[in-house]
Amino acid sequence: LAKILVTSAWPYINYVPHLGNIVSSILSADVVARYYRLKGDDVVYVTGSDEHGTPIEVEAVRLGIPPKQLTDQNHEKVVDLFERWGICFSNYTRTENPLHKKFVQDLLLKIYDNGYIFTQETELPYCPKCDRFLPDRFVEGICPNCGYKQARGDQCETCGSLLEPAKLIQPYCTICGSTPVIKRSKHWYFDMSQFNEQLRNYIKNNKQLPDNARNFSLNILKEGLKPRPVTRDNEWGIPAPFPGAEDKTIYVWVEAVLGYLSATVEYFKKRGEEERWKEYWFNKEAKTLYFIGKDNIPFHTLILPSLLLATHEDYNLPWNVDSIEFLMFEGQAFSKSRRIGIWIDEALELFPADYWRYTLISMRPETKDTNFSWKTLIEKVNSDLNDTLGNFIHRTLTFINQHFNSVVPKPSKLDEHDKSTLESTRKRVEKIAQNLEEFKLQEALRHVIGLSHLGNRFLNEKEPWKTIKTNPQSAANTIYVAAQIVKNLAITLEPFTPFTAQKLWKLLNLPDTVHEQTWNETKKDLPPGHKINKAKPLFSKIKSTEEELQIILEKARSNPQKLSKSNVRVGKMK
Ligand code: MF3
Ligand code: ZN
Repeated sequence: LAKILVTSAWPYINYVPHLGNIVSSILSADVVARYYRLKGDDVVYVTGSDEHGTPIEVEAVRLGIPPKQLTDQNHEKVVDLFERWGICFSNYTRTENPLHKKFVQDLLLKIYDNGYIFTQETELPYCPKCDRFLPDRFVEGICPNCGYKQARGDQCETCGSLLEPAKLIQPYCTICGSTPVIKRSKHWYFDMSQFNEQLRNYIKNNKQLPDNARNFSLNILKEGLKPRPVTRDNEWGIPAPFPGAEDKTIYVWVEAVLGYLSATVEYFKKRGEEERWKEYWFNKEAKTLYFIGKDNIPFHTLILPSLLLATHEDYNLPWNVDSIEFLMFEGQAFSKSRRIGIWIDEALELFPADYWRYTLISMRPETKDTNFSWKTLIEKVNSDLNDTLGNFIHRTLTFINQHFNSVVPKPSKLDEHDKSTLESTRKRVEKIAQNLEEFKLQEALRHVIGLSHLGNRFLNEKEPWKTIKTNPQSAANTIYVAAQIVKNLAITLEPFTPFTAQKLWKLLNLPDTVHEQTWNETKKDLPPGHKINKAKPLFSKIKSTEEELQIILEKARSNPQKLSKSNVRVGKMK
């Protein structure tokens, strides 16, 4: 049994996440965690709400409420939403959780004791009007590296480089727009420069890392890591544990990445197995997988590993950091302020979670930025889910209902075509597993649809609706083979579209839930003589046009009560 720790970037909880946020992190991690669970591995999937930091404070100031009130509200909301999206966490926690705070403080003190933390007076932008220092996202300006106009104090969104707030050109306060003055403040710095060589080796030898993560990280290492301040003058955050730092809090990224550890600790503590988190964090056989968007790369390949190295405790460094590109919406970046995109609460009001899960994974931006459009959604649902997958399953099951009294027929003397179809099925299932283990989720899903293409073609060529009259045993063989493909679909769909997989499992009248099965079930027959239930269509077509869908969404935004599935026109499967 392999130990696999699956994690995904902790969403900032200033809003609910949008489709672009979850495809790179929570949804992808869920697919892979579900797959490894089916494989029978010891999977732990942890993440949580990222509650601190300037994104939260900026939004709380905008709403005129305390940050804690904002994060309490949104945390509760996303916990419910993730459940409705079918995300199966071992532990979805939050950074305000006392166990996390204590864990972070202890770990930072250890690093302090090991001599990696020093203090320094620095010049920081300060807003005279708001009467506060402007770290991170409280200040924006022109990126000194690439010239992007709205770079944030800690990182430029466009070139991805890590910044220092005082280096921004033409800075302005994001709360009130004033030009900041420069003020001095004392801060605690983490000397990452001491890990340059170790990190270079780690990244070079880590074969799983995708190219974007490797190249980006090696570039930074080539310039050499610099000490980074780990304290902030903000009130909202985890109190800094260093002597003399009583009025400071910890930089959000430094504590959030440690959440991967504290969330594992918490998970096992709740189960009364206090020591077991170590099996995932110290045992060198364990694999740790991180699913993130490309803007999060340096925090996972450089900052987290150097924090872990600085403890001198031989923690496992990330085994893979799967950092995909961006999902765009109708050609533009998702934007909360300009309301470009679709948010995960809105999405569920329009269509079932599996329609979104399928569409998002099938267009997952694995190698380049990828564009989501209403048109793609309609195509994927109508053509892939409804006409290919749903149609094959429905044809097969209704045939069993009508011609074999709902009982899987007994095969006899399978011909070459039957045998080669079973063989192709087996190969595809292997391909799916292999792709998933290589983080090619999109390709894996393509092979799942490929299975139903295979099934449809097989039925068309075998024409059991004709042979049932002329050669009933041939029809029985055909339907027996098709039924095996349907069973394989139920298992292989589970990671991607868990609700549909479970519905199908029940149509097949199989015991327990599909979620408790193993991948090995794909090797076992749906036995002749097994009685299935009456077929029901698994999907409906989207009949609304792209324009209509956009209008429904916009109307709903101006009047949230009106957002309802009943406005969307769907048709019954033919
Ligand atoms: N909240 C960050 C974001 O949305 C991601 C944090 S990942 C963590 O970009 F590991 F640091 F938590
Ligand atoms: Zn200001």
